[in-house]
Amino acid sequence: MTDQSSIRVDGARLERSLATMATIGATPAGGVTRLACSDEDKTARDLFKQWLEQAGLEVRIDDFGTMTGLRAGATAGPPVVLASHLDTVVRGGRYDGALGVIAGLEVLRTLNDHGVRTRLPIAVVNWTNEEGVRFEPAMQASGAVAGRFTQADVYERCDRQGARFIDELRRIGYLGDQTNRPFPASSYLELHIEQGPVLDDLGQPVGIVGGIAGITWSEVVVSGQSDHAGPSPMRLRRDALAAAARIISGVEQIAWDCDEIAVATVGRIQAEPNVINTIPGKVTFSVDVRHPDPATLEAQFTRLQELARTVASNTGCDVDVRRFWTSEPTPFDRGVMMAIAESVEALGLPRVDLWSGAGHDAKYAAGMTPSGMIFVRSKGGLSHCETEFSTPVDIEAGANVLLGAALRLAGQV
Ligand code: HGY
Ligand code: MN
Ligand code: MN
Repeated sequence: MTDQSSIRVDGARLERSLATMATIGATPAGGVTRLACSDEDKTARDLFKQWLEQAGLEVRIDDFGTMTGLRAGATAGPPVVLASHLDTVVRGGRYDGALGVIAGLEVLRTLNDHGVRTRLPIAVVNWTNEEGVRFEPAMQASGAVAGRFTQADVYERCDRQGARFIDELRRIGYLGDQTNRPFPASSYLELHIEQGPVLDDLGQPVGIVGGIAGITWSEVVVSGQSDHAGPSPMRLRRDALAAAARIISGVEQIAWDCDEIAVATVGRIQAEPNVINTIPGKVTFSVDVRHPDPATLEAQFTRLQELARTVASNTGCDVDVRRFWTSEPTPFDRGVMMAIAESVEALGLPRVDLWSGAGHDAKYAAGMTPSGMIFVRSKGGLSHCETEFSTPVDIEAGANVLLGAALRLAGQV
């Protein structure tokens, strides 16, 4: 029987697969745009499905399009799930999500190479629409499997052009069946790039993730009065964009006033009618607020509501704050973290513990089964941009940590 502790992934094969996947939706500056249920997402799914079949895995597609490649174990029953996502943000990086999916596949390819039989089955999973950029909010497929969104909630979501999720999922040919959902699972592991500066500042390749910070998303609509930019005296105006600007700078101040780890971001904005010589009558923008402490997260949102009321009364505009998604702070399972830590130690890597400021499907997985995450260093801490980068050495180290943790959780026969 193979001594599993000596098995390592094929780093060169992993890099080749990552590079091939990165050609799908490639952008001129070296990034990737692969929005959920887009043609690029379909092409990536088709390639991943081909890889799953080549690895001899049983391929399942569920009712949200989430893809599972299942490797049988010596016993039947819920698998150890290795997951992440192949969809990206606009002009995102080639590692966010794809690393976890392809490294999960690399683990199964490696077990095949060595003829390893695990006690439990192991599955690799590509979650649909982790990013929530085209169809807001984020992590909808994993959230729906966890029972936090209904199937109808997800199906009826529309993108900015009015296309419905369900119609787009059907169009790309990945509308599967509810019986093919990736859960129940015996445990869950997600390898992901850190997307922040902690590991890079420490000069360390991998980290053990203790949990995920809380996130709340709101949409703010400021309504004023469209008017001519010339003859309208300042004292008579109800300029929705000027009012929005006061709120936006206030949003940043809310985070600065809180503490070192609070963050708040206005990522998208739309002014109407958005022409040079008309005072904007309506402005719509997003607010993303995050914090690992639940009470602090709520306090941040309360301050946003107070800010909106103040600006409304000072400008004469109407301001509506519509909170539409909250992902509570989520600690990971100690047992799974122990399996990861043992894998890190067995590889002679230093142990670094940190929390995630980014959201992940592991958040919803943690509500269904013991879950954990492994981080790989992000150069300069950059992500959700075309310069996102992790070195092949760090990626191979992360994939070997994933392999070791998966073998510990799946058991040996
Ligand atoms: O928003 C997030 O943190 C994740 O990238 N969807
Ligand atoms: Mn991600
Ligand atoms: Mn992301």
